[in-house]
Amino acid sequence: MAIADLTISPFHRRALPLHPGCACARHKETNMKTMHLAVAVAGASGQLGSLVVNELASQCAGHPGTTLAAITRTPERHAAWQAQGIDVRWGDFDQPQGLAAAFHGVGRLLLISTNVIDGTGRRIAQHQHAIEAARQAGVVHIVYTSFLQPEDGKRSLLNDDHRATEALLAASGIAHTILRNAFYQDLLLAVLGAAAVDGQLRTAMGAGHVSYVAREDCAHAAAAALADGYSGNRILDITGPASLDAPALAAIAARLFGKPVEVVHLDMDARARHFITSGMPAPMAQMLAGIERWLATDAMHIVSDDYRVLTGRQASPVPAFLHAHRQQLLAPALPPA
Ligand SMILES: NC(=O)c1ccc[n+]([C@@H]2O[C@H](COP(=O)([O-])OP(=O)(O)OC[C@H]3O[C@@H](n4cnc5c(N)ncnc54)[C@H](OP(=O)(O)O)[C@@H]3O)[C@@H](O)[C@H]2O)c1
Repeated sequence: MAIADLTISPFHRRALPLHPGCACARHKETNMKTMHLAVAVAGASGQLGSLVVNELASQCAGHPGTTLAAITRTPERHAAWQAQGIDVRWGDFDQPQGLAAAFHGVGRLLLISTNVIDGTGRRIAQHQHAIEAARQAGVVHIVYTSFLQPEDGKRSLLNDDHRATEALLAASGIAHTILRNAFYQDLLLAVLGAAAVDGQLRTAMGAGHVSYVAREDCAHAAAAALADGYSGNRILDITGPASLDAPALAAIAARLFGKPVEVVHLDMDARARHFITSGMPAPMAQMLAGIERWLATDAMHIVSDDYRVLTGRQASPVPAFLHAHRQQLLAPALPPA
């Protein structure tokens, strides 16, 4: 579907009543512009990106005038999306020269933070390329997947890049929504899967609390922020409904497994060694142990109502998420066939 062919799309007509009755000139002007432009997801092939594309595609289904673009380094993997009428485009944040073309005709863009977490500044450069290309292409609004972060100086490898990207967005002059996603509940599957085997929840998170959120809820929040036509700047904390410490997680796991689960507190080095013994490559083990150590500072304890206000739904609690993934969690504990 060529963007030049676009008229006012039914999808955008549904998306725009964000400001129904709002006579404000800024919203009116933005809405008029956005009505003729595509909604795009950049980083579409990842787990979060795919969920967002599929959710938006189902909203667009049956509305032939709609343009939904999926921008990815691997467009060749997405014949199925193309068959659904999704405009699949190539785009790599490491190759800025091609990015403005990838964003051509896009009104609202989901910029998914890349998974390059190496402390070298490469991820900041990638995001900078994307924001600059969006500016050149005339993107009206960027939704960015940031990371939950306190304002009190508890910094880490994980949120430094996000802070820098948020500053780039603020300086860009492009209206934006920053979604500060909490830790994914999905990451608990590996930790609690190990506890299912021997009844020990090993952790370096100390007495820290974490407001884990389901990746699926983060995707739903991103889709809602893309579709709602909001035209100012906002920062939303996308968290689960409760902040849990290690004993709370162990109690949930014990109920799910039907057997006691004991918390075993480890320091960072011992935690990394345990990950390595379980078969994890050393750099990944050290990074994950470092993340748990950082969680001990209570840096991820914030619980917010922003998800409910944005989407009109309650975020999924950890017990419900784990229950839905019970088979997967218990799989390592089952005897080999
Ligand atoms: N809140 C949390 O607990 C948590 C946990 C893990 C990760 N994250 C962050 O959230 C993001 C999305 O999570 P996820 O679960 O979907 O991760 P994922 O499945 O690992 O996806 C990685 C994403 O990074 C994109 N990417 C990597 N290099 C890129 C490049 N050079 N140019 C453009 N895009 C690039 C990929 O896009 P394409 O393959 O389509 O090009 C893909 O969307 C991650 O990348 C990471 O920044 C958050």
